[in-house]
Amino acid sequence: MDLKLAVLSRGPRLYSTRRLVQEAKLRGIDVEVTDPMKFSLFVDDGAIDIHYAGEPFTHDAVIPRIGHSITKHGVAVLRHMEQLGIWTANTGQGILQSRDKLHASQILARNKIPVPKTTYVRDSIDVEPAIDFVGGLPVVIKVTQGTQGQGVFLRHTVHESRSLIQGLLLTGKSVLVQEYIAESHGKDIRALVVGDRVVAAMRRKARGREFRSNYHLNGTVEKVDISEEFEEQAVRAARVLGLNVAGVDLLEGNNGPLVLEVNSSPGLEGIEKASGVNVAGEIIDYVMSETAFSEVDLDQLLRTVPGSGVLSLQLRNHPMMVGNKISDLFKTSHEIPVFALSRENKLLWNPEPDVQLRYDDVIICYGELNQLRASLKSAILGVAEQSLSAMKKDQEQA
Ligand SMILES: Nc1ncnc2c1ncn2[C@@H]1O[C@H](COP(=O)(O)OP(=O)(O)O)[C@@H](O)[C@H]1O
Ligand SMILES: [Mg+2]
Repeated sequence: MDLKLAVLSRGPRLYSTRRLVQEAKLRGIDVEVTDPMKFSLFVDDGAIDIHYAGEPFTHDAVIPRIGHSITKHGVAVLRHMEQLGIWTANTGQGILQSRDKLHASQILARNKIPVPKTTYVRDSIDVEPAIDFVGGLPVVIKVTQGTQGQGVFLRHTVHESRSLIQGLLLTGKSVLVQEYIAESHGKDIRALVVGDRVVAAMRRKARGREFRSNYHLNGTVEKVDISEEFEEQAVRAARVLGLNVAGVDLLEGNNGPLVLEVNSSPGLEGIEKASGVNVAGEIIDYVMSETAFSEVDLDQLLRTVPGSGVLSLQLRNHPMMVGNKISDLFKTSHEIPVFALSRENKLLWNPEPDVQLRYDDVIICYGELNQLRASLKSAILGVAEQSLSAMKKDQEQA
């Protein structure tokens, strides 16, 4: 095995870092811990390069364990690596969007993954409407960039909520007001996702009157068997946020799982001990099986060809087209530029031309952008004209 792997971490002695190195060595992998702060990034006319501690960086794959305090820098390093074709377990983009609780919940909600009702507040006059929107008191108040339970509060009155929020806004924090899931008070589920499955899960419980169940707040952990529904939502949450290795926090709501957040550098100690699963080994096995291929960002790839790109068309914005076949839309063009149809959280690749369009579908096309826009426009116009003339005919007959 000649894979050269780097674990990007500032703490070679941390449990999670040590375990990853240990499991990689057991599998004969050439592994090294590299400090994300010691990379130099070079950008030149049409070319980029990366050095580590003054030497060219020649590893094939990395497992990022980027601490919250160095997110911005770590993500820049990862972006550089991705452009150089170095395989990474989690992309910079995935890490960035999962660390912002507002951005993450926007992406989760857009993908129909259940989340607690949440409002973003910018001003103290927003506080009362926010509390109403999430279903009344008590409410959970969070800063968007918090971790390990710091920056998460439970408040029982409007007055307490307002003064806390005012204080947070004054110190420049972005604030969320969230529905308090009472039935899940003091506990949650942590599901460890690797690739497209949950490899281990645990229930975390807070001690005493504390409502936050974070391990770092001295919470307890225990093994738990989670239902398929929880597994599915955890896997989907990691997937839509662009993370291959993730710790997904879920609350057990009365109506099923609610995804709270997705962690891109999940701690391994609690979960390995609670579940008895060799999670580090699972991660290394995954890296070994995946490094042969790397995912491409199709949109970015196509942008390298001037004038071409990917377009999507949301049917909900063009309800007149609902019920038509894909082929009806492209009568005038000699070939159908649709390469995927997003429907009910699934992607249908190369859909048949006679697939009937539904209200919630999203059509995805690629190719020469001007041409694409023109044929989509004429398709939309064509359908509109058709239904107009059908209407006229109806009126004439009546
Ligand atoms: N809306 C909520 N209802 C009930 N408990 C919550 C809610 N939000 C957070 N908690 C509790 O607080 C803990 C920390 O919240 P979380 O959003 O995961 O922030 P952090 O990133 O700091 O871990 C959760 O693990 C959970 O136990
Ligand atoms: Mg959490």
